Amino acid sequence: MRIYLDHNATTPLDPLVADRMTHALREVWGNASSVHHFGQQAKAALDEARGSVASLLGADASEVVFTAGGTESDNIAIRGAAEALEPSGRRHLITSAIEHEAVLNTMKALANRGWRVTVLAVDATGIVSSDRLREAMTDDTALVSVMHANNEIGTIQPIAELAAIAHERGALFHTDAVQSAGKLPLDVRVLGVDMASIAGHKVYGPKGTGALWLKRGVRLAPPSTGGRQERNRRAGTENVPALVGFGVATEVAKAKLSGEGERLTALRDRLEAGILAAVSGSERNGAASPRVPNTTNISIERVESESLLIGLDLAGIAVSSGSACSSGTLEPSHVLKAMGLSHGRTLGSIRFSLGASNTEADVDRVLEVLPPLVEKLRSLTTVGGRK
Ligand SMILES: Cc1ncc(COP(=O)(O)O)c(C=O)c1O
Repeated sequence: MRIYLDHNATTPLDPLVADRMTHALREVWGNASSVHHFGQQAKAALDEARGSVASLLGADASEVVFTAGGTESDNIAIRGAAEALEPSGRRHLITSAIEHEAVLNTMKALANRGWRVTVLAVDATGIVSSDRLREAMTDDTALVSVMHANNEIGTIQPIAELAAIAHERGALFHTDAVQSAGKLPLDVRVLGVDMASIAGHKVYGPKGTGALWLKRGVRLAPPSTGGRQERNRRAGTENVPALVGFGVATEVAKAKLSGEGERLTALRDRLEAGILAAVSGSERNGAASPRVPNTTNISIERVESESLLIGLDLAGIAVSSGSACSSGTLEPSHVLKAMGLSHGRTLGSIRFSLGASNTEADVDRVLEVLPPLVEKLRSLTTVGGRK
């Protein structure tokens, strides 16, 4: 039996989602823009899904724009706001150094086209400080985009506080909530943001689905031209069966939220404490709290994360590494680097992200396999001369 501990990368389909999608794939194939029965059937299914997504976010269904995932939601929010506000002379954007590439690379693309972009540093625990944001704000700041929960270390940013600072200067605030949706109670009105991105495949829904929550009254330049779907905010015929699955996934996530959060916190804490106690030179990365319940990121001295990942995979355990191999060398994670961790610590980091299928037996298995694996790797290798 393989153990999957990489739920921040993606999640399997919830069985109910798979059932409802299968039904929709066969039976609900109309174009939701068509006036006849088949179109109206598709539109009704889409409306129901939109209501479910809105309910997970504490939002109104009319404010939910369906997209093809977290990346597209982030792009529509950031590019759309930047372009819509360009005529007002606001040409400054702010983000944080630990964002997902969907945000960071979108900001870079806009910087290349003349927007001024400030990337806020984070502290050693991975938190963006309100004071830093306040100092960075100017009268021409159009948009601030700071993620809710970080995908690598799970830390949660003080979004309500940051959004209030942006609003004081008349800027919009977007949050990438891809990693917090389904893991934390999420209420966009309590967060006080103007836009929030989420993705279906992180909440046991299908890949290629997502949503951008857009507060009523916020105007964006449309990202692509075409039909009038999604109230002119995202052109193209909707993928109804997939969005039906996304809707069901958000219903299941909402129903399970509190119980599952407590269960995963207990499992995660047991795993983390077990590793820190059994593996010499291991340290948790990022703040212990506030943090999403399912994530722990741990650095292990004198081993490379890629070797650990492969060793664990051979033992049937799937995790993710905090460094990636690029052109034959290990590239440390930009998140851990931004937190100021030493090179060695960034290269030996692994992320465990737990989810629905995980049990205490899975945690015990990791605690059985990991310590001897670390010892074996240490006896075999010297990491870049940093033994
Ligand atoms: C924080 C965050 N934002 C955005 C994305 C991109 O989402 P998608 O894969 O649906 O495009 C991810 C996916 O890993 C993520 O973790």
